[in-house]
Order: sequence, then C-alpha cells, then structure tokens
Amino acid sequence: MKPRKSSAKNDAILDYIVEAAKRARKNAYAPYSSYKVGAAIATKSGNVYVGCNFENASYGACICAERNAIGQMIAAGEKQPIACAVVTGGRKPGTPCGICRQVMIEFTKDMPIVLVGEHKSGETRRTTTLSELIPDAFEF
Ligand code: THU
Repeated sequence: MKPRKSSAKNDAILDYIVEAAKRARKNAYAPYSSYKVGAAIATKSGNVYVGCNFENASYGACICAERNAIGQMIAAGEKQPIACAVVTGGRKPGTPCGICRQVMIEFTKDMPIVLVGEHKSGETRRTTTLSELIPDAFEF
C-alpha cells in the first residue's frame, strides 16, 4: 500500500485496523495514567496485529500500544507492516511517541498511520504517514 493513496481497498484496510485498534484499546492496562491506547498493524501478507499499552508500578517499564503491536508482528514471524492505526481518547488524537516512531521505521520506510481520538460525541480521525512523523530518522 502506497502512503496517502486513497482507494476503496486501502480505505477498507484502514477502517478494518481502526476497529481492531479500538477493540485492543479496551484491554489497555493503564492504572497510572488512565490514558488507554490501542494500536493495530496490517502487514503485506494480509494479517493484522494489535497491541495496547500496559503500565507498571515502575513507570519506566510502561510499554506503548504501538510497540506492543510491532512485537506481536515480529513474534508471528512477520516484518513488513503496510499500515498502522492508533486509537486514543480525546478530541485530538494522540500521536505515536518518538520511541514508537523509531521502532516502526525499522521495518518500513513509510506507511499510512490513522490516528483516532474517541470521545463522547464520536471520534476524530486524522491520517498521516510514518515519514511525516519521523523525517530524517536514524539508520544504522
Ligand atoms: N502511550 C502509548 O501507548 N503510545 C504512545 O505512542 C504514547 C504513549 C502510552 C504509554 C503510557 O501507558 C500512556 O500512554 C501515557 O503515556
């Protein structure tokens, strides 16, 4: 899937992973921040991997939803993400943190990222790309 290219098929994939990320968000373990996040990643092979954030009494051990989803993808033996959805609460959708951006760019140069903020009166959706979120990324 080319970033930003809008087609019925691509839009359907994005809608599908948004719903998967919403479901994953319900399982978030966020007793310290109360900020629940769900993520879903579609891969080239057609599979979808989800993640949610899970926090810890030792705050530095908190894991973000996006990295959890990437971990699920890797554990399943896949390495080619083609699209990502991130769902948070609020009218302004949250964006992936810097560490998650770096982790995602390890596996693809670019992909569309749908950001969704869930709130009382519905949701706010914004589509961006990984390259827009992390230009000039570190490479080794
Ligand atoms: N969080 C994510 O899950 N993804 C991000 O990209 C940013 C932050 C989580 C970590 C923590 O559990 C909570 O949101 C507040 O920072």
